[in-house]
Formats: sequence, structure tokens, C-alpha cells
Amino acid sequence: MCGIVAATARREVSEILLEGLRRLEYRGYDSAGIALIDAEQSLKLHKEMGKVSVLEAAQQQQPVTGRIGIAHTRWATHGVPSAVNAHPHLSRERLAIVHNGIIENHQALRDELIAQGYEFLSETDTEVIVHLLHRAVGTGAGLFEAMRSVVARLQGAYAIAAIDRENPEQVVAAREGSPLVVGVGIGENFLASDQMALRQVTDRFVFLDEGDVVCISPDTISVVDAEGVKQQRQTTRISGALESVELGEFEHYMLKEIHEQPRALAQTFAVAEGHRVDDSLFGEGAGAIFDQVSSVQIVACGTSYHAGLVARYWLEDLAGIPCEVEIASEFRYRRRAQHPGTLLVTVSQSGETADTLAALRDATDPAFVGSLVIANVDNSSLVRESDLMFLTQAGTEIGVASTKAFTTQLVAFLMLTIALGRRGTMDSAKSDELVNVLHDLPGLVEQTLQLDAGIKRMAESFIQKHHALFLGRGVHYPIAMEGALKLKEISYIHAEAYAAGELKHGPLALVDDDMPVVAVAPGDELMEKLRSNLEEVRSRGGELYVFADRAADFQDSPRVHVLPMPSCPDVLAPVTYTVALQLLSYHVAVQKGTDVDKPRNLAKSVTVE
Ligand code: AGP
Repeated sequence: MCGIVAATARREVSEILLEGLRRLEYRGYDSAGIALIDAEQSLKLHKEMGKVSVLEAAQQQQPVTGRIGIAHTRWATHGVPSAVNAHPHLSRERLAIVHNGIIENHQALRDELIAQGYEFLSETDTEVIVHLLHRAVGTGAGLFEAMRSVVARLQGAYAIAAIDRENPEQVVAAREGSPLVVGVGIGENFLASDQMALRQVTDRFVFLDEGDVVCISPDTISVVDAEGVKQQRQTTRISGALESVELGEFEHYMLKEIHEQPRALAQTFAVAEGHRVDDSLFGEGAGAIFDQVSSVQIVACGTSYHAGLVARYWLEDLAGIPCEVEIASEFRYRRRAQHPGTLLVTVSQSGETADTLAALRDATDPAFVGSLVIANVDNSSLVRESDLMFLTQAGTEIGVASTKAFTTQLVAFLMLTIALGRRGTMDSAKSDELVNVLHDLPGLVEQTLQLDAGIKRMAESFIQKHHALFLGRGVHYPIAMEGALKLKEISYIHAEAYAAGELKHGPLALVDDDMPVVAVAPGDELMEKLRSNLEEVRSRGGELYVFADRAADFQDSPRVHVLPMPSCPDVLAPVTYTVALQLLSYHVAVQKGTDVDKPRNLAKSVTVE
């Protein structure tokens, strides 16, 4: 989704801004722009439709330079993707701003500003902010005070950064509902919507709180909170080498990330290696909170929601703990009746998903004994605002389609099941068995990755199709949902998942030779039931693609294509079958020629509702 980078320094900053945008490219965007105040104290900008490389080409042709500037990648919400709607937006050649989020009351503000003679060039909600700022500085307010007065008028979510050619050292910014971080330098300071954008210039960051307004100059950082009280926010040093985000031998990030799973999974459960799953893995005070838990409410979006659906089977089956799972955008807007003693568990790769964050903030009912987030990004908003956290060790995920983040979330949930289970129905022998079995997981995923050639051949049958059905039963129903989501996300084939037992209650009517049916068929207790469901498809002329345990007796036959999967313990099968379905979607998308890592209309981190 949209990305912000800003800098104020004693050196030229255009390359720092562009490098920051390149590092945010993976988040998904449709246009990009940059504005600097040059040596003559004029605002200079480039705005381009398309990739950051187009912006770079414009910059090479006609360089804009300066020691202070702002830059942006835009993911369209209000107004079509276009150079005019791209940020930065200007007001009367004096001020420039970039904005992430949505201003809900933009129409009323636009009408007010038009009545006062402001001319709007774009269709964006953002443009009202820059004209409001212009009006405020016109009354004599300093840029910082002007920003404070402007945000008081805004309803919605925002991270904003602004520069003023009358004040060529300061960048003023504000956040409410969208992430923003200050990068601390020596004789220079920076701002970005994600610290990753600034790792080439600093490893020290100030994570801003909701409602903060900040002013940075090369030597100073001043923050006031939502009440206007001056605050000294803590500086955090992000240790560790900057992770490589190079493609290496791989053609796409998605493929690289699929192949990184054995290591990511091993690193995620390494915290428990050799001993039991300790409560402290979930943060300080976890034991005291877990002791009060009699049910679990999981809230998440998209792929992370699917991880929650898998966890429900484990928590109820293995730990004997009642569990509800809900999509965050639904959870946050309904009146709920919550069981007392409920642990709220949010799941989010990015830790910044707007609906999931809002759901956490909305869960104030005393029925909740605490909140736990399973996230992949330390210092993200969900991590900072939850009582407890479990950080998956997937490493940076660049591909919009989530792969290693999902499978590591499953490992995290298995560990939570063990931690809660010993307070429920799980004896220590079972808990030891589960910890031990996790050690087999990387090897089983390696074996699954070796099936790539067969899966690639299978993918050829999908490229001319417009629809696909995915079937699973039990814990593999959410895996079928995840498989369908991957296929639609990156190959644009309409795919739906059904619990196989539901087939004859409606979707069977869709089955014909033009509707491939993908089945997840591990060798578990539901296999025979699934086999009957698949027979129903076959006898109606359907074409079946069955990912089946190699020990189960599924045979290739006309219209039945079997991909033999490594046999594995039931509890690990959701991971291995997911990996196979990831490869299927990947190869379909590559053969169709779509933009695998940045599928159309989607963003990596969904920071607006
Ligand atoms: C996954 O492939 C998707 N891109 C998407 O569904 C994603 O899982 C969802 O937006 C939630 O993101 P989060 O995990 O960062 O909260």
C-alpha cells in the first residue's frame, strides 16, 4: 500500500528518497512521486504513473535536487491511478505533502476550501490536507502549529509528511491510524512509513504513537502527542544485518519465499528447540494471562485469517479450548457476546493491517483476559499495542502473496496450542510429541519442494481456465481456502474453496469439464469421506487434481490427476499441502504471465480499511 519517505539533511537527498521508495516497492502501488526544495528555495517535483523506475528515468532526464524532500508510492483509493493523482500534492507552489490513509470528511473540507478560492487539481482526498495547511500557515502559524491545527480537522486514517519552501529545513509529519517512523541520523533525520525504507541510512528509529505530530530538522526531532504535550519518544536500535532482499537465483520473490520455508519454519520453532514450549516465548506475563484463559477469539484478515481457521481445529482438538475465528473487518463492526476468560489473538504478517489493528483496539470488553499478536514484524503497531506477542521468524516477505508468513504462523499456533493445551486436555506426553514432531517439518517441506516439476506440469491444465474449485475436509478445509486465495490473487482465476462435504449442497452444480477441482487429500481420518466426495465429482465429468498422501490409494485415471505427497504426521500436513498449493498457483501465474510478486490491485500491507 502507499509508502512515505522524507529526509532533511546537509547533503543532497534525492537518491536517499528514491532508494527508500525502491525498498517500499514490494508493498504494491500504482504511481510514484518526489518533491524537493532546491537551492533557490523552490519546490521541484516529479510525479509518474507506474513503477519507481519510471520516476527514476524522469529524475535522470531532468534531475530535481535538494537537501530536504518527500517521496511517495501511491496505491489509489480516491481517484484513478494517474500522474495527476500521484503524490506529492502542492498548494500554491509553497507547500507539498504526501499522505497514506483515507480522509473520510474530505468532501466537506473540499467544498469549504473551494468556497475560499482554493483550486483542486486532483481527485484525491489528500489534496484537502495541503490546502488546509496552506490556509493555516497563511494566518501566520508555523508549519508545526499549522499541522496540529489541520489534523484536528481530519477524520479518518493518515500518515502525513509536509515541506514548506518558506521553511527549508523542517519536515513536519503526523500519524493517526497509519504507521510512521522517524529515522535518526547524525546531522540528518528521516521519516518513513516503514523502517525498511531507511535502513540504508540509519539503524536508529523513533516509532511514533497514534496522534503524534513531529517536526524534524537535520539536528532536531520534536514530538507532541494528541493532546499537544511535548513527548520524548524512545529511540530503538534495530540490530542485525539488513536482510538481503535480493532475488538471487530465483525468478520471483514468491518463489524465493516458498523455498525459504524450511529455514523460516525451523527458525520459528527454534525458540522451543530441545525443551518444552515455555510461556515466556509469548512475552512477559504470558503465564498469568494463559492461566485465566477458557476460550480463544482469533481475529485476522486474508491469509492470516486462514491460519486462524487451522488453529481452531488444533486448539479445540488438541488443547480442548473453545475457539472462535473471525475476519477483522466483520469483528470490529458488530455487537458481540464474548465468553468471559477469552484470549484475543490477532494474526498479521505485517502487524499493520488496519482492520486487525482496529479490532484489537475495539476489544475492550472485560471478557478478554488479554491480547496476543502473532506477527512477523517487530515494532509494528499490533506488536506494540498487544499484551503479548509471538514473532514468527519468516524474515521479510516481499511477494504480495503470503507464503512463508502463513506457514510460520501455523507453527506459532501449534506452539500456542501446546502452551494452552497443558492447562486444558493435553498431557505432557502429547505436548512432547508435538514439539518433537516439529523437527521433521523442514525436511518434509524440502521433500514437498522437490515435487515442483510435477506441480508445474499440472499447472499447465489451469492456464486456459476461468474458474477452479478447491476441496478439503477438517483442518484441510482452510488449507483449500488458502490454496484458492493464492490462485485467485496471482493468476486472476476465479477460485473458491468448499468443505468437501458441502459439495452436494450446491457447488456440485458447477462441475463440468471446464471446472478443474483441486482436492487436498492427506491420509487422515477423513480421507475415506473425501474419497467419496471426489467420486461425486468424477462421475459428473469433473477433472480432478488430487494432492494425496502417497501412502493412500489414489490412482491416476482419466480425469483424475494425482500428485503423490510425502506422508507426514497429521499435525504437519496443513503446512506441506499448503506448500504444494503455493507452487501450483505460482506456476499457473507464471505460465499466464501475470505480475506474480505484485498482482494487480493488491497491496502487501493493507493500512487502510
Ligand atoms: C495474502 O496472500 C494476502 N496478500 C492477504 O490476504 C494478507 O494475508 C492480508 O492482507 C492480511 O495481511 P497481514 O497478515 O499483514 O495482516
